[in-house]
Parts: sequence; C-alpha cells; structure tokens
Amino acid sequence: MLAIGGDHAATHYKECIKSHLDARKIEYVDFGTNETASCDYPDFALKVAEAVASGKCEKGILICGTGIGMSIAANKVKGIRCAHCTDTFSAKACREHNDANVLALGERITGMGTALDIVDVFVDTPFSNDERHIRRIEKMSAIEDRYFK
Ligand code: RB5
Repeated sequence: MLAIGGDHAATHYKECIKSHLDARKIEYVDFGTNETASCDYPDFALKVAEAVASGKCEKGILICGTGIGMSIAANKVKGIRCAHCTDTFSAKACREHNDANVLALGERITGMGTALDIVDVFVDTPFSNDERHIRRIEKMSAIEDRYFK
C-alpha cells in the first residue's frame, strides 16, 4: 500500500499519478489535498510520512511545486528517508542505496512523462541489501537517535 499526498501546486500531478497507479493495480491511500486552494505542504507531508513511519503504508509519494518543501518536511519524521528525485537514475539509486521510503516530486520542475517513469522506478526497485548500504543507513538512524527527541 502506498501513501500519496500533495499541496495545491500538485493536484494535477497527484491525479495523474493515481490514474497511473490504478492502471498498474497498485493500491494507495490519498491523504490530500484535493483542493486547489492554497494550503501548507508540511500538513500533507506529515500525514504521508506518519503513514509510512507507522508501517500503515509501505512507501509514500509526495508532490509539491518543487518537491523540495515536501522532502524537507517528510524527513523531519523519524524513520523517513525521503528522496527528492528529478530523474530515474536518482530514483533507482535512492531505492538501491538509501532504501528511500518516500519519493518527492515537483510538478513545476519535472515533466509528467519523466515523473511517471520516476514513480515506476521508485515503486519497482528493491533495496540492494548490500552490507555497505545497510551500514550507512544504520549511521543515519544513529543520527536520528541522537537528535530526535
Ligand atoms: C507553493 O507555492 C510551493 O511553495 C510549494 O508547492 C513547494 O514548492 C514548496 O517547496
């Protein structure tokens, strides 16, 4: 199960990505917004990040104008490794190397065709389970343990 969310700058992309996931028969929970009225991206980043961090959803997809605000906000939640991707190479690497569990996209930055390719790569690529990548992720978790209350 995926979690998906976006702000007012991302309503079109969110619907396109949902249609793409529907066509692939991939289930998701839509955490909004479903309005075009201006709203605050951290509110939706938090909903998606909590769904993933709690284990209710396996992975998340967040979309805003740039993808930057969503990624910064999601990474404030312990256990979240949110990758802001604008290309498929990064999408593959963030899964294989970083075991990213949330993808951030920017509707004002990345074309729709590329965005859907990024979604596919993010969803389909497993973590490498390579020892060196596990070690580095564990070091990131140790940073969380040190600085998160
Ligand atoms: C909204 O104007 C915009 O700031 C937001 O979608 C996002 O790009 C923030 O990082």
